Amino acid sequence: MKTLQVKLPGRSYNIDIGLNILQTQLPNVVLKKNTDLVVVVTNETLHNLYPDHVSSILEDSGIRVAACVLPDGEQYKNLDTLSQIFDFLMEVSANRKTLLIAFGGGVIGDMAGFAAATFVRGIPYIQIPTTLLAHVDSSVGGKTAVNHPLGKNTIGAFKQPEYVCIELSFLKTLSSRELNAGYIELLKHGIIHDEKLFDFVQSHSLEPLDFEFLEEAILRSCAIKGRVVEKDETETGIRATLNFGHTLGHLIETHAGYGKYLHGEAVGVGMFFAAFVSWRCNELVEDDWTRIKSYLSQILTPIKLPPLDQNLFREMILHDKKSQKQSVNFIMLRKLGESFIRKGTSVEMLWNDFKEFTEKFPEFVEIERR
Ligand SMILES: NC(=O)c1ccc[n+]([C@@H]2O[C@H](COP(=O)([O-])OP(=O)(O)OC[C@H]3O[C@@H](n4cnc5c(N)ncnc54)[C@H](O)[C@@H]3O)[C@@H](O)[C@H]2O)c1
Ligand SMILES: [Zn+2]
Repeated sequence: MKTLQVKLPGRSYNIDIGLNILQTQLPNVVLKKNTDLVVVVTNETLHNLYPDHVSSILEDSGIRVAACVLPDGEQYKNLDTLSQIFDFLMEVSANRKTLLIAFGGGVIGDMAGFAAATFVRGIPYIQIPTTLLAHVDSSVGGKTAVNHPLGKNTIGAFKQPEYVCIELSFLKTLSSRELNAGYIELLKHGIIHDEKLFDFVQSHSLEPLDFEFLEEAILRSCAIKGRVVEKDETETGIRATLNFGHTLGHLIETHAGYGKYLHGEAVGVGMFFAAFVSWRCNELVEDDWTRIKSYLSQILTPIKLPPLDQNLFREMILHDKKSQKQSVNFIMLRKLGESFIRKGTSVEMLWNDFKEFTEKFPEFVEIERR
């Protein structure tokens, strides 16, 4: 097992990473929290795959547990489903001492975290992430949210977990498609902050699962994210670099319809596009662009989008029909392993680059004609 600490003023927490660690680590942490009730928030898929798994580990240590089981899917990451968590918490008479546990992928983590941030003005929560994407990214850093029909993650809060337990054995039941999507965010951390991590993950194949490799890669990925979050918890600066690939990625998810493409799949194409823009603007040298391009093009999922024109592109990038703004902060690469925030990037320029990108790489993004 490996342990990493995220050090925030007054709210430091540990991330444990390893194989078969949940059974021993979780009860120890929960028993120290002096809670009278634990509510496990999960979804139907995990509830069927691992029936009462977390509850029974805790109940064996004499902890009172209730399970709130939600429908599965990005399309349920919204205010209606969030309300179901609040209804459940009211029904079981939850209070300020209740501890929430998010047991699932990024969707469950983001929703349970937001419920923890807002229920009775805030209760503690723990993350038990079960997808590779949640292992390397979403369970760390305290961003919580639900989607609005017009924009991904637009309603949310910053709320750090008390503890994160990254149990690797859950990856055994994850599909290849989901594994690949998580791998993209892992690769993202290498591309934006650590060339050595990019090389390290490239030199191993993802399947069959190699837990020693995964433990090391996840540790390094969480360490990068943890250090960035320590410097800038609420994203006033450097944390925005973690959004590399997400400007186009979020547009793809929203425009294709939530759930059609996995978050990692959409972000992968967004990363490819952001690297392309960096190269076109003479920031990224040819050699780094070629390395990124040749690796990403082996692992990306082709995206097909409904008709899109400049107006709609602008509205979706800015999340607003009436906005007077014409520019965004766009994350670009200075080189492989180093990113920067390009403030005031014109949406018109991005649209022109995007059109060129779709013409050059129709195998990755195809826009349907009206
Ligand atoms: N908060 C953050 O910092 C942050 C960062 C990145 C992504 N996100 C969010 O995370 C979400 C994507 O997360 P995700 O990719 O984990 O998706 P997800 O939570 O939808 O999980 C993917 C699918 O895998 C299933 N699943 C989960 N664990 C499983 C297991 N062990 N075995 C078999 N099936 C399993 C889920 O039920 C679901 O069907 C997006 O909503 C994204 O916006 C948040
Ligand atoms: Zn992401």
